[in-house]
Parts: sequence; structure tokens; C-alpha cells
Amino acid sequence: MRRSASVVEALLLVSLIFEAQLWAVNGNSHCENLKPLEVRPHSVTITEFGAVGDGVTLNTKAFQNAIFYLQSFADKGGAQLFVPKGRWLTGSFELISHLTLLLDKEAVILGSEDSSDWPIDDPLPSYGRGRELPGRRHRSLIYGNNLTDVVITGDNGTIDGQGSIWWSWFRNHNLSFTRPHLVELKNSTNVVISNLTFMNSPFWTIHPVYCSHVLVQNVTILAPLSSPNTDGIDPGEHH
Ligand SMILES: *[C@@H]1O[C@H](CO)[C@@H](O)[C@H](O)[C@H]1NC(C)=O
Ligand SMILES: *[C@@H]1O[C@H](CO)[C@@H](O)[C@H](O)[C@H]1NC(C)=O
Ligand SMILES: *[C@@H]1O[C@H](CO)[C@@H](O)[C@H](O)[C@H]1NC(C)=O
Ligand SMILES: *[C@@H]1O[C@H](CO)[C@@H](O)[C@H](O)[C@H]1NC(C)=O
Ligand SMILES: *[C@@H]1O[C@H](CO)[C@@H](O)[C@H](O)[C@H]1NC(C)=O
Ligand SMILES: *[C@@H]1O[C@H](CO)[C@@H](O)[C@H](O)[C@H]1NC(C)=O
Repeated sequence: MRRSASVVEALLLVSLIFEAQLWAVNGNSHCENLKPLEVRPHSVTITEFGAVGDGVTLNTKAFQNAIFYLQSFADKGGAQLFVPKGRWLTGSFELISHLTLLLDKEAVILGSEDSSDWPIDDPLPSYGRGRELPGRRHRSLIYGNNLTDVVITGDNGTIDGQGSIWWSWFRNHNLSFTRPHLVELKNSTNVVISNLTFMNSPFWTIHPVYCSHVLVQNVTILAPLSSPNTDGIDPGEHH
């Protein structure tokens, strides 16, 4: 059973309204300072960093090393990390400014089913605790903090959180910390998330918080109707 398209559309509508409000708050009425289609002058492929797209090999280090390497291009127009066709299992990894994460048509990023691959972070200051449990919370699979000019896009590639294991931990009251989102960006600006499918998030799917100028466009968000708290797009407070 999948959420109906109308739910997804309703969530997208929410996000578009959110976007409009952000632009209103920031005094701009258009998206002209977003440059989603700007071609990055430098691009690497995740396999250059040892990743194996067999759905079994854990590629967290490959994602982290690729992004660490791409930091040196941030002041040279930024860089692109390309994820080709394959099933790329990974734990949480952190994005940088001036980065495009580009998924190929049949690329699938898979969230690890080992909770220790999702580090523990402090709660958000405005919540003062985890959303569902007191104390700290697991970090999202794709995470960013204090960023600008970030694009997460693809030819309808997929980011699959493999959340069913988290849903059972939740139902069995077997979690010590609040479940992770699939994508969370904190205190970031000029963010584009587009042309992708997101599925089976452990908790909320896309969570921009303390962000401005966020565009979420042309995405499909899927999760079983029975899955707990797998909201599509939850825009948080902005600064
Ligand atoms: C984000 O900015 C805050 C405040 O300047 C700082 O304390 C924090 O370490 C920064 N985090 C990252 C990941 O840059
Ligand atoms: C937000 O990010 C900006 C730019 O990186 C940084 O200067 C600021 O200190 C950050 N604020 C917080 C509350 O982390
Ligand atoms: C939406 O994304 C699909 C692939 O994900 C692409 O073929 C299509 O052109 C996109 N539509 C728009 C309006 O961007
Ligand atoms: C993208 O893939 C999802 C999942 O397979 C599908 O539901 C959706 O229709 C696709 N979107 C486009 C634009 O092809
Ligand atoms: C709860 O989690 C712990 C640690 O992962 C595991 O050893 C235990 O079997 C789990 N219990 C249940 C009821 O799932
Ligand atoms: C989405 O994909 C379509 C088709 O490739 C492209 O024309 C469009 O610019 C993309 N949109 C974004 C916001 O990335």
C-alpha cells in the first residue's frame, strides 16, 4: 500500500506555499538567485572513492571521502558528486556548500539498517529535545549544517531510507533516541531538492530547518500508509 498521489501533491503544495512565504520574508518575489541548473566545473563519481553499488557493501566512507575531497572546489564554482546506476548502501553523510549530489536514473542510495551508522546529535535548540523521545536524536541519512548553494537532484533516482527496521524499533519501544529524517538541512540557504524519489524514511522525509530559499520541486515521496511519521516535507522554523 502506498500513499496516494494526492497526499504527495498536497505535501508539495505545502512546500510551495512555504517557499513563497520564505521569499516574501526575504523580500524577493522570484527564485532568480537559485541556480539549480548551473553546471559545476568539477565532477567526480562515487566509484572513484571505492564505492560498490551492490546493495550490500557499506559506502559511508566513500561518500564522506568524496565530499571531503570536493571541499577544495567550493571556491572554484563548486563541484558535483555523481552517483551512477546501482544500489549504494550507506550510513549518514554530511554535505558541503557549493555541492550538487546528482543521482543517475537507476541510482538508489540505500540507508543502512544498522542504527550505529546514523550518529547521534543534540536536539534542535527550538525543540530542546528529540521530537519523539527526550534527549538526543539520530542524524539524517543526508545531512547538512550552515550550508549555502546545495543541490540534490537526479533523473528520478531514488533515496530509500529502508525505514521498516526503524518502524519496528519504534513500535517495540526499542529506541533510545528520536528516529532520523531521510534528509535534514539546518541553517542553510539556496537549497534545491528536485527530480528524485524518496522512500521509506525512518521518520520525516525532508526536513529543512532554520533554512531560507529552499526549493523542493518535482519529487515523489513514498512510504507505506501504515508507516509511523513518514511525513513528506516538513519545513521547520527559519531564522
Ligand atoms: C555551524 O555554525 C555554528 C555557529 O557558528 C557553529 O557552532 C557550528 O560548529 C557550525 N557547524 C558546522 C558543521 O559548520
Ligand atoms: C548559520 O550559518 C552561518 C553561515 O555558515 C553561520 O555564520 C552562523 O553562525 C550559523 N548559525 C547558527 C545558529 O548555527
Ligand atoms: C520531473 O522529473 C523527471 C525525472 O525525474 C523528468 O523527466 C521531468 O522532466 C521533470 N519535470 C520537471 C517539470 O522538471
Ligand atoms: C519516479 O519514480 C517513482 C517511483 O518509481 C514513480 O512513482 C514516479 O512516477 C517517477 N516519476 C517520474 C517523473 O517519472
Ligand atoms: C532492542 O535492541 C537491542 C539492541 O539493538 C537488541 O539487542 C534487542 O534484541 C532489541 N529488542 C527488541 C525487543 O527488539
Ligand atoms: C528536472 O529535470 C528536468 C529534465 O531533465 C530539467 O529540465 C529540470 O531543470 C530539472 N529541474 C530541477 C529543478 O533540477
